[in-house]
Amino acid sequence: MSEQTIGIVGAGGMGRGIARRLTTAGRSVLITDNKDDAAARVAQEASQGRPGTAHTASLEDVLSSDMVVLALWYPGTVDFATQHATALSGKIVIDIANPLSDTFTRLTVPPGTSAAEELARAVPGITVVKAFNTVPAPTLFDGTVGGTGLDTFVASDDDNAKKEVIALLDGSGLRALDAGSLDNAQLLERLCAFGIELGQRYQLGFNFGIKYLPATELTSSS
Ligand SMILES: NC(=O)c1ccc[n+]([C@@H]2O[C@H](COP(=O)([O-])OP(=O)(O)OC[C@H]3O[C@@H](n4cnc5c(N)ncnc54)[C@H](OP(=O)(O)O)[C@@H]3O)[C@@H](O)[C@H]2O)c1
Repeated sequence: MSEQTIGIVGAGGMGRGIARRLTTAGRSVLITDNKDDAAARVAQEASQGRPGTAHTASLEDVLSSDMVVLALWYPGTVDFATQHATALSGKIVIDIANPLSDTFTRLTVPPGTSAAEELARAVPGITVVKAFNTVPAPTLFDGTVGGTGLDTFVASDDDNAKKEVIALLDGSGLRALDAGSLDNAQLLERLCAFGIELGQRYQLGFNFGIKYLPATELTSSS
């Protein structure tokens, strides 16, 4: 696992946080962005004092990575993956998008679907895994809220891909939970919008986390 390279497209708030979590876990990250300086800043910051490495790379090299994270907005995720369907074909593509309304508290996709399912439908040659979307960028970068480690919910219709992503995050500071099939992205995307609504009401901004608190130690049935 440690030899795998993870490509990140987009060096905004989430690309920054994901790169940091992955280098914390000792992974090798390649990152690209529309703006070379943004990607360079994120790569440099993510590598600092971490066991893993992060480098900027051409889009072509990023898309050649073992897995690719689309740290982009929806429906840009779908446009991007459609445009690069050949390069992404056969790969695990991690979708982090929340299709948020102007207020950030509602969704722009109709009930019964999600940004992740729309991506999977538009580009059938990729394996879509939903992850990271309920973790706001600032707390994702920090890895904790008030000293408590954060959860990420990992959903996919491909069990092996889901296991790979969960294993990828081992040591990242995030606890990755198996969140079932990809249609649970409908819930996860709505959950993030709800978290933002609470954050607005209680004037937290994006400084919050959503955590599952088990009464006993978690054991997986799968
Ligand atoms: N921010 C959060 O707290 C949060 C939390 C959970 C999930 N998410 C989700 O994460 C995704 C990214 O959010 P973000 O806050 O990281 O957005 P962001 O700060 O706007 O970052 C996106 C970055 O991707 C770049 N980009 C856009 N199209 C590109 C392309 N084709 N190739 C390379 N780079 C490209 C953008 O550059 P330009 O600005 O030049 O277009 C920007 O630097 C969204 O889907 C959002 O719903 C965000």
